[in-house]
Amino acid sequence: MENRIAGMIIAKRKALGFTQQNIADKLGVSFQAVSKWEKGLTYPDVELLPALAHELGTTVDALLGYPADPLTVYEERYKSEEYYWGLKPNDLCYEIMRLRPPVRPYRVLEIGCGEGKDAVFLAKNGYMVTAFDAAQSGLDKAQSLADKSGVHIDLFKADIRDWRPEQQYDIIYSSGVFCYVEKALRKEFIDSLKEHTAAGGLNVVNVFVEKPFIAVPPDREKSESFKKGWLSGELFMYYHDWLFRKNDEIIFDCMSSGTPHQHCMDILIAEKKA
Ligand SMILES: C[S@@+](CC[C@H](N)C(=O)[O-])C[C@H]1O[C@@H](n2cnc3c(N)ncnc32)[C@H](O)[C@@H]1O
Repeated sequence: MENRIAGMIIAKRKALGFTQQNIADKLGVSFQAVSKWEKGLTYPDVELLPALAHELGTTVDALLGYPADPLTVYEERYKSEEYYWGLKPNDLCYEIMRLRPPVRPYRVLEIGCGEGKDAVFLAKNGYMVTAFDAAQSGLDKAQSLADKSGVHIDLFKADIRDWRPEQQYDIIYSSGVFCYVEKALRKEFIDSLKEHTAAGGLNVVNVFVEKPFIAVPPDREKSESFKKGWLSGELFMYYHDWLFRKNDEIIFDCMSSGTPHQHCMDILIAEKKA
């Protein structure tokens, strides 16, 4: 039988910057034991698998080479004390401030807010923020960040695959999340966002896209939504009838799995006609 767990432990451990000794200390085993797992000479004890997966920020299924449910991965990932995505706001938040300075309390919806760094930043700057994510552990951290910052955010748990807006927003923002919207749902999903954006409002979105000359990243998720990745330019197409304030495509280096690779991302700021 192919030993998939060895490669997974190495990749996840290196991506998190842990040594074999770090992992050994966390699990109460010797570093030689970790070394043997990584060489494929032995397997971790079944009873250690949940703790090992937790320390490596993944799931037992993923460690064993089964496609991981991305929601479970984020739910686990956000349980640690530190902020997985850090606290520095995304550059797109500054672009929102440049294009729509908070001279009045613009209604912002953030889709897939993770641990809330961007939602809290925007709320601190005077926007009226509503935000959701599918990971409760992320929402809990977003709430505590909002409390510490003395701001209010309307936070709720929802899944983009079946949630649709019911009220109007001035700005709809989402970073690193549209990749979870399956191909068949994309047009209807984006149409509902466009419909619930006020006249003159903005949709500010980035999404990972496929490029023929960029290899599929080694840690790309194998879930349904990723089977048909976003094509280069696809996001722009859905907004063909809006005014483009920004439409960029960037390629950048990444080490997230321990193996150097590249990603391509489309970035769009589109304005609904007034
Ligand atoms: C790459 S993270 C980005 C988080 C945040 N936007 C940021 O930039 O820090 C992707 C986020 O999408 C959320 N997510 C994944 N699938 C989702 C779904 N089906 N519905 C809602 N949120 C989802 C995850 O929980 C995670 O917080």
